[in-house]
Amino acid sequence: MRAKAHVREVGLRDGIQMVAAMLPAERKLEWCRRAAAAGVGEIEVTSFVPPKVVPQFADAAEVATGALTVPGITASALVPNLKGAERGIDLGIRKLNYVLSASEEHNLANVRRTTDESIADFGRIIALRDARAKGEVRVAGGIATVFGCTIAGSVSEKRVVAIAERLAELGADELVVADTVGYASPFQVKRIVRAIQGAVGDLPIALHFHDTRGLGMANVAAGVEAGVTRFDASLGGLGGCPFAPGATGNIDTEDCVYLLEELGFDTGIDIEALVALRRTVEYWLPDERFSGAIARAGLPKTFRQPALEAA
Ligand code: COA
Ligand code: ZN
Repeated sequence: MRAKAHVREVGLRDGIQMVAAMLPAERKLEWCRRAAAAGVGEIEVTSFVPPKVVPQFADAAEVATGALTVPGITASALVPNLKGAERGIDLGIRKLNYVLSASEEHNLANVRRTTDESIADFGRIIALRDARAKGEVRVAGGIATVFGCTIAGSVSEKRVVAIAERLAELGADELVVADTVGYASPFQVKRIVRAIQGAVGDLPIALHFHDTRGLGMANVAAGVEAGVTRFDASLGGLGGCPFAPGATGNIDTEDCVYLLEELGFDTGIDIEALVALRRTVEYWLPDERFSGAIARAGLPKTFRQPALEAA
């Protein structure tokens, strides 16, 4: 039996938050349904931010409500503050992905408060969850700009570990360790993941990479070597933070699934179905730049997905 690895689709959130063209809710839901049918287990379907801040998510309630009817997936959503978490819980979302930044400068640019204030807000979100939906809603603590920041430059590893420890103590169900701007490199990934693991024990860690400088897949492999089996990725490599100068796309979902399968994991995801969906999204968003090697080159003749063949 192959070990399981989890690739979470964040294209509907990170992927489109900088896209100028408004993707209609019905298309977002088609994306969601087809990703689910391809075998993706968790899809970050929207972001509960003010529409003024990111207009693409003015339809967050409609998309979240629709996504909750899609069978077989965890429909998660990004929340930047308590108000976002409240909106998510009210709508019945079962997994909230909170985000703060290890870089004080990026945190101020992104959510207009200090990192300490964001940590305090995380505590309030956990309290709200415990009061209203304990045992039903999971809350992930996301840490952005872990590997460096386009505003501040380097980010202290000690500070990253201290933040991870704090989020764990406050009750995070998972940590999402993010390279928001594509500064991470493989040995750094191993070092930081191991340092965080040392501080938080067996709390699950997910990695979130952007491929801005071409090291995305190498960083996934480094994460695997450090024992991580959860990765965020975006269909066609769309993505980027609107409040981080120079940010570009996430790692490409199709390539990430391919790498993990080649490393011997069962992702449960049908790559051909993902590529077909990506073609549809390319058609919907003709002005965007898509990346990814598998969509360009195709799968090798030797490629096998034993778990899918058996299914
Ligand atoms: N959803 C909807 N509305 C919200 C909200 C949320 N999550 N959070 C705050 N608001 C509303 C408030 O109710 C208030 O409305 P009002 O003017 O009608 O009273 C208004 O927005 C301002 O609220 P405030 O708490 O002062 O927020 P802010 O202006 O300091 O902005 C954030 C803080 C966190 C809401 C904003 O910086 C943000 O959304 N950042 C996320 C950016 C992002 O998406 N980055 C990429 C992903 S990492
Ligand atoms: Zn991101």
